[in-house]
Amino acid sequence: MPLGRRLMHPALACEVLGLRLWEEQPADIVAELRTLWSRYGVLVFRRQALGEAELARFCALFGPLERTVRTDWASQAVPEVGLISNLKDAQGQSIGGLGDGEIEWHSDQSYMMHPATGAGLYALELPPEGGTTSWVDLRAAYAGMPERLRREVAKRRAVFSYVKRLAGYQEGSRTISEDAKRQTPPVTHTLLHNHPVTGEAALYLDKTTTVGVAGMGDNAAAALLDEIYEAAVRPEHVYTHHWQVGDLLLWDNGFTMHRREPFDANARRLMKRTTMRLDPSRHIIPEGALAG
Ligand code: OGA
Ligand code: MN
Repeated sequence: MPLGRRLMHPALACEVLGLRLWEEQPADIVAELRTLWSRYGVLVFRRQALGEAELARFCALFGPLERTVRTDWASQAVPEVGLISNLKDAQGQSIGGLGDGEIEWHSDQSYMMHPATGAGLYALELPPEGGTTSWVDLRAAYAGMPERLRREVAKRRAVFSYVKRLAGYQEGSRTISEDAKRQTPPVTHTLLHNHPVTGEAALYLDKTTTVGVAGMGDNAAAALLDEIYEAAVRPEHVYTHHWQVGDLLLWDNGFTMHRREPFDANARRLMKRTTMRLDPSRHIIPEGALAG
């Protein structure tokens, strides 16, 4: 029987109904979920009650879990699970990453040579307002761009830098280990990919890390990138998620960007986060090269 589902956005986001993700999923359900996730950039599961080990086990159905460079955000019990939170421990140290501020349009791990593109975010505590998360569909964004701009992106690689990402973070999330620095030199990725399942063309972008375009002068590159971002982020290509406690969202960073609204610093927000290496036969996996 096909899974119950409800579209949250016509092409970008789909809610999957009726699953109890803390239970083991039968093979036919797993196969259907994998197929669904290659069509929709965002899958939504609501009313879930998951421990960290259960969250990790479910997410690992889609690819090996990755421990990210933010080892300082890792959960003590299950290090493949990261904490995204503004909460502080008894010593006043942040228990996780990303604080309470706005987070601009980005694609996780775009600064990595080989980005792990699958992401899961599970909501445990939420502020009364703000803190919504939005995704933009970069397949639709490409399809809707003027022909001239489409020709331009087809032949270009952008330069993605973790240093730029860090500069945009709130205090507290800005410092990384020497080891993390070594793992994140500037890299280039092509701005355009084709989806291995649907064949659709999609942009690959990240406003918080792109610092240039390979082979282009700084001013011309900045102007081109501005034009691309302006054309890409249109309200009709965006899905905004209003979180409820117990929501688990999976998203594919290969053809989407996401952003977060800020929220009251005195409110509590606690999310648990996973990162997966998705299967290249079902997902766009951007290939990187060291920036020259
Ligand atoms: C992330 C992220 C947004 C949010 O975890 O990669 O961008 O809403 N989170 O917390
Ligand atoms: Mn993110």
